[in-house]
Amino acid sequence: MAPTVPLSVLPLVALVALVAPALGVAPDCDRPAHLWCRSPETAVACQVESRCPDLPHPAAAPVQLSLFYESLCPACRQFLVQALFPTWLQLPTGMLNITLVPYGNAQERNVSGKWDFDCQHGPEECLGNMIEACLMHEAKDFSTYFPLIFCLESGTSVTKNLEACLQVYAPDLDRSRIAACVQGDTGMALMHQNAQLTEALDPPHQYVPWIVINGKHTDELQAQAENSLLGLICHLYQGEKPKACGGSKTLKTLPGCRR
Ligand SMILES: *[C@@H]1O[C@H](CO)[C@@H](O)[C@H](O)[C@H]1NC(C)=O
Ligand SMILES: *[C@@H]1O[C@H](CO)[C@@H](O)[C@H](O)[C@H]1NC(C)=O
Repeated sequence: MAPTVPLSVLPLVALVALVAPALGVAPDCDRPAHLWCRSPETAVACQVESRCPDLPHPAAAPVQLSLFYESLCPACRQFLVQALFPTWLQLPTGMLNITLVPYGNAQERNVSGKWDFDCQHGPEECLGNMIEACLMHEAKDFSTYFPLIFCLESGTSVTKNLEACLQVYAPDLDRSRIAACVQGDTGMALMHQNAQLTEALDPPHQYVPWIVINGKHTDELQAQAENSLLGLICHLYQGEKPKACGGSKTLKTLPGCRR
């Protein structure tokens, strides 16, 4: 005779019935069913994540930061070199997601079907923007191209140190592809994309660096990001705070480059 099922076990029975078809394809699930919802790892291994309402939160979403800048603006260089790069280095991966948009106060014109760019600090700035856009495109991986861009922006010349920076930070990147991008249609298309991203800002940018955090720009966020980026990111991050959030310094900032 089959034993009667005590009422208290019913939800568990229901759970087993729900996931039974998945059992055959969960080879890493080596825990008894009553432990499946106890940790995120086990829930994943046993393929029951969506059925465990009280699961401790997996890693929180990263804080999203977009930097609209131009390669030769002193305040942009200062923010990137003295605030953004060190903050990124200090924080664990997955806490801060950075998007770099080199273009800033540039203007684009359609000259008989080709894009032509005018940059606030002249042709050298356009070249710097283009080099950085192409490095992002060719390197793809943020942790490869950000140190390269940091290297260019922190040196005496943004445009003349590419080879030296590549040797130190990304010796394997293909020089000929980068050069082809900078001088060709790919670079033009990337710069046009940056122009469109910049023109789409809401509110429109009034100066650069223009910082957008989790999709928002306000004077207050901008001031906080410039004065203590680490403190701001730590404050906004919803997950468990890492050690680096313990103490944070403030920075005396240069005035931005107005349009
Ligand atoms: C990081 O930002 C990019 C946009 O620049 C977005 O496509 C990507 O999904 C974001 N990644 C995470 C993990 O939030
Ligand atoms: C750029 O100008 C050419 C003519 O000079 C025109 O055919 C083309 O549609 C224009 N492109 C855009 C995106 O405005």
